[in-house]
Amino acid sequence: NIPGYVKIVEVGPRDGLQNEKHIIPTAVKVELIKLLVSSGLPVVEATSFVSPKWVPQLADAKDVMESIQNVEGARFPVLTPNIKGFEAAVAAGAKEVAVFASASESFSKTNINCTIEDSLSRYRDVASAARNLSIPVRGYISCVVGCPVEGNVPPAKVAFVAKALFDMGCYEISLGDTIGVGTPGTFIPMLEAVTDVIPVDMLAVHFHDTYGQALSNILVSLQMGISTVDSSVSGLGGCPYAKGASGNVATEDVVYMLNGIGVKTNVDISKLILAGSFINKHLGRPSGSKAATALSKV
Ligand code: HMG
Ligand code: MG
Repeated sequence: NIPGYVKIVEVGPRDGLQNEKHIIPTAVKVELIKLLVSSGLPVVEATSFVSPKWVPQLADAKDVMESIQNVEGARFPVLTPNIKGFEAAVAAGAKEVAVFASASESFSKTNINCTIEDSLSRYRDVASAARNLSIPVRGYISCVVGCPVEGNVPPAKVAFVAKALFDMGCYEISLGDTIGVGTPGTFIPMLEAVTDVIPVDMLAVHFHDTYGQALSNILVSLQMGISTVDSSVSGLGGCPYAKGASGNVATEDVVYMLNGIGVKTNVDISKLILAGSFINKHLGRPSGSKAATALSKV
């Protein structure tokens, strides 16, 4: 029942870098994006048009977008928390955006400073402005199985937010285990609740690998019909507003597993590893990918 092709959504330049304390030069971010594209990744989330006070690392969003205007071969969605961000993104040349809601009230408040309901109403405005410009909108849901403040999150709450994002016209909905606490034991019931209200081919899964559960969760998601997986090169990342969350599952590890089970991604793992080494060298840090570390030694 596993899909023959999985679309990987590389979130390294956005989710991966947003939490880095030292400001990374725009040119380094742009080079990273180019290396990721040349590895064959079909979608590279490039940056966020959020408040620079909230996420200083991505304050150069406009410059990043302008520098990749002529890069071909991948789509470059960007995060937009409100109309202000949407307009700035479009002005900078974005052709696809993503809105990000939460299944937990506490996390909505800490991450975007409003209630879930208020965020959905902002996102309806973004979605309708996007529809007028034929710009596709992706919807994220954070804390789909656990919240740093509230603990367990009921599947019905995730299904409710997913339906709202679907109704406003999001073409894809990414289910985020923001703090990486899920196991197949919690992830499967949540997916069942969501697939009761949304077609499974519109869903993506997004794991932070805090507890080392990401690959198992991805495998069971594939078995349930999911064919879009978010990941971050070298396992970079973490959300500045989710204390204790570690990086996303490493793209190299996901590609290695998918190669192993005969699922196509069109990603060249050795080129992907070069992209990872490039950014790790800049950050002065070893790779967060086990597959990349192992393959670099053979
Ligand atoms: P707020 O303070 O409530 O906003 O923040 P406000 O409307 O009161 O505006 C305050 C200031 O921000 C004003 O500037 C606005 O102009 C400015 P001032 O007058 O003080 O100079 N502002 C903006 N500036 C640039 N771009 C904008 C923008 N909007 C307002 N778009 C807000 C509300 C949503 C803006 C803020 O909370 C925010 O930017 N949050 C973003 C947080 C974030 O990026 N988190 C990480 C991404 S989500 C994530 O990582 C999870 C995910 O990976 C999935 C998963 O793992 O679960 C997606
Ligand atoms: Mg994330």
